[in-house]
Order: sequence, then C-alpha cells, then structure tokens
Amino acid sequence: MAGYPNPNGAPQKGLVGWIEERLPVFSFMKAHTSEYYAPKNFNFWYYFGSLALLVLVNQIVTGIWLTMHFKPSAAEAFNSVEYIMRDVPWGWQIRYMHAVGASMFFIVVYLHMFRGLMYGSYKKPRELLWVIGMFIYLALMAEAFMGYVLPWGQMSGWGAQVIISLFGAIPGIGEGLVEFIRGDYLISDATLNRFFALHVIALPLVLLLLVVLHLGALHQVGSNNPDGVEIKKGPKGNRWSPEAPADGIPFHPYYTVKDLLGVGFFLMFAAFIIFFEPTFGGLFLEKDNFVPYDPLVTPEHIVPVWYFTPYYAMLRVVPDKLLGVIVMFSAIALLFLLPWLDRSPVKSWRYRGTAFKVALGIFALSFVWLGKIGGGPGTDPVETQIGRLLTVLYFGYFVFLFVYTHFGFEKSKPVPDRVTTHD
Ligand code: HEM
Repeated sequence: MAGYPNPNGAPQKGLVGWIEERLPVFSFMKAHTSEYYAPKNFNFWYYFGSLALLVLVNQIVTGIWLTMHFKPSAAEAFNSVEYIMRDVPWGWQIRYMHAVGASMFFIVVYLHMFRGLMYGSYKKPRELLWVIGMFIYLALMAEAFMGYVLPWGQMSGWGAQVIISLFGAIPGIGEGLVEFIRGDYLISDATLNRFFALHVIALPLVLLLLVVLHLGALHQVGSNNPDGVEIKKGPKGNRWSPEAPADGIPFHPYYTVKDLLGVGFFLMFAAFIIFFEPTFGGLFLEKDNFVPYDPLVTPEHIVPVWYFTPYYAMLRVVPDKLLGVIVMFSAIALLFLLPWLDRSPVKSWRYRGTAFKVALGIFALSFVWLGKIGGGPGTDPVETQIGRLLTVLYFGYFVFLFVYTHFGFEKSKPVPDRVTTHD
C-alpha cells in the first residue's frame, strides 16, 4: 500500500496511513500532544485542568451506571437510590464516586480558577478561553444543582424550592418563570422528571462541547505559565523543533507524565474520602438528604452544598430579596468581565504590585469565609454583619482592579524575557 505523508513528512503505512488519508486523526492527536509545546515552567497549579478532565470522565461513567438503576419519579426516586446503595452489586461505590466526584469537581475547578487569577491567565490573548471557562462553571453549577434534586431527599426538594423561588423575585415575569421551571404549581414529579432529562443528557452534552471549545481555545493561543511570559513571542528553536518556542517542551510525554503524578495523588485523596468519609461530615452529602422529601415538613436549616454557600451567604445577608438575587448573580457575572476590568500589562502576580497580591488574598479569603457563613444557620446577627462586610470586600476586588490598573497606580516589577524555573 502506498504511504501517506505524516506531519514530519515521512509516509505512514498500513491501517494508520489508510485511516489518516481519510480522517487525519493521528496527525491531529500528534499536533495536540507530542507536537504541542507547553511552557517548561508549569508548577503544582497546572495539575487542575487535567484533573478536571478526569473528574468529568468519572462523573459521566458513574452517572451512566447510576442511570441504569435510578427511577426518575417522585414515587420511586428515593427508594431506587436506597436500592442502589444496598442491593446493586458495588452500587454504593458507584453512588459515592459520583456524589463525592461532584464535590471534587468544584474543589478542582475552584483551584483551577484561582490559578487563573494568580497568573493572569484570563488576560489577552486568553480572554475567550476564560469566558468559555466561566460558561463551564455556570453549566457545572446547573448540573450539580439538578443532580442534587434527583435522590428526592428532604434537601433535594426543599433546596429546589428555595433556589427555584429565587426567580420569583424578578418583577413581572417572576411567578410565571417559576411555574415554567417547576412544570407545576409546586415541586413535583414533573420537576424531578425534567431535571433528570437535563442532568443526564442536556447539560453533560453542553459541558462536553464547552470543554472541547475550552481546549481548542487553549491550544490556539498556547498556555500561560507562572511567569506570565508569552513563550510564542520569545526565541524559537528547541531540541525537538527549530520552529517551536525555545521555552516550550512537548506536552507528551513531559506533561502527560507530570499530570499522571497529580492523578495518583488525587486518586488517593478521593479514594480516602469515598471509602472512609463519603458524606464528609454532611458537607458533601447533607444529613437531611438521607430522609425522603416531605413537602409538609420543612428541615430546620435549608442550606445548599458547600460549593454554593458563598453565593447563598450573599443572598441571605442582603435584606431585600430582589437585591439579594441581583447581588448573587452579579458576583458570578463580574468574573466574566475580569479580562476587561484588569488592564495591567503584567500577568503573573510574581511581578505585580504588592497591593494586587493583598487584594487577591482578601478576595479569596472573603469567598471562603462567605462560604462558611452560607453553610451555617444564618441566625447570628453578628455573622450577618460580617457577611455584609465580606460581600463588600468581594465586590471591592473588582472595583480595586479597575481603578488600580486603569489609572496607573500599579508599581510592578520588571517581567523577565524568558520563563524562569525556580519552582
Ligand atoms: C470541566 C471543567 C474544566 C476543564 C475540564 C478544564 C480543562 C482545562 C485544561 C486541561 C487546561 C490546560 C491545563 C491547565 O492549564 O491546567 C485548562 C486551562 C485553562 N482553563 Fe480550564 N477547565 C475547566 C474549567 C475552567 C473554568 C471554570 C475556568 C475559569 C473560569 C477555566 C479557565 C482556564 C484558563 C484561564 C486556562 C489557561 C491557564 C493557563 O494557561 O495558565 N477552566 N483548562
């Protein structure tokens, strides 16, 4: 059989060559792995993208298995989950891998996003990569919320009631919108059924598509790095190719091996939780959700899972419902605008002004602290005042970034021409 050229010019023979001529999957894979040059100074913070991919695969695979035994009806959902836990061989493990996986997803994604803030990875030319990431974050929140409703426990039903009723605060269309989302006058079988459809097929498809676009955008502009130096703009030529950036190394095998180390540690951490503390003291799976949903008995405290609690705290500390909803959604919306709010020419916090580092630290702290407040009963007036202050600090970060970088207040250090490898 005649050979077909591969990207290196050497002909490929046999089945690979035959497929390659009809569908260039092998050269595509090569271009995005062994011929994709990533900066050579990646550190710990660069583990979380590949870990997010791993968790995504885990959620899809364990989700398929759960769907085989789950019954999406108000009458049967709770019992079908108990059946999975007690009677389906390894069912408990599949369920805990999925439930713990949801929390792992947010841990990994929050660290992944924080890395972006530290190293200015949202800045030009990666604005679209960041915005796509934010859409992933939104889709992930919707996916997690709907998944939590499915086991039809107390917190499923009451959580859905609280969150869906938020849309009722929108003037004019609010009430109609709430009814449209629920599919009924109350949280019911219809709600569970549509959430099931959205959770198992619609949102996973959206998430997968967004992740493909995310990686496409990443490979188009190339990865940022802890120094925030654009390696594509630097000198060319390394030991693998005269065309490649001098500070780049092939993603495969160098970073596939590095990422595998991260996978190893991550799996140990996740397995420990799955096998020994799957509810994580009520943080990953709340105690009330082991009680079937009863629309006539309100749980003592209705509190979402930890990854939503910072926003939930903002909602609760603002006295007016509509204003609370606006504050909560703006807290997320502002993250989309980061690339345009922060106009500093310096990307990485290594070379940015001290005020930036302090502000980012306060921002992260206020988010975590708000999360703690949002997870509590919300009855302590002192805590409510602290929550208000933290909400102001959270929003203050965006105002600070705008003023600090638009009016030339930042005193940054000189950025090196080449990446440094001091990590
Ligand atoms: C399902 C969720 C996600 C997956 C699977 C994912 C995957 C990845 C991967 C594999 C990388 C390259 C490796 C790395 O830089 O760590 C990456 C880079 C990046 N991601 Fe994500 N990501 C997700 C969510 C997000 C979110 C929510 C954001 C922010 C809103 C985001 C922003 C970024 C940015 C800015 C980069 C480039 C970082 C740099 O080069 O310094 N990603 N992502």
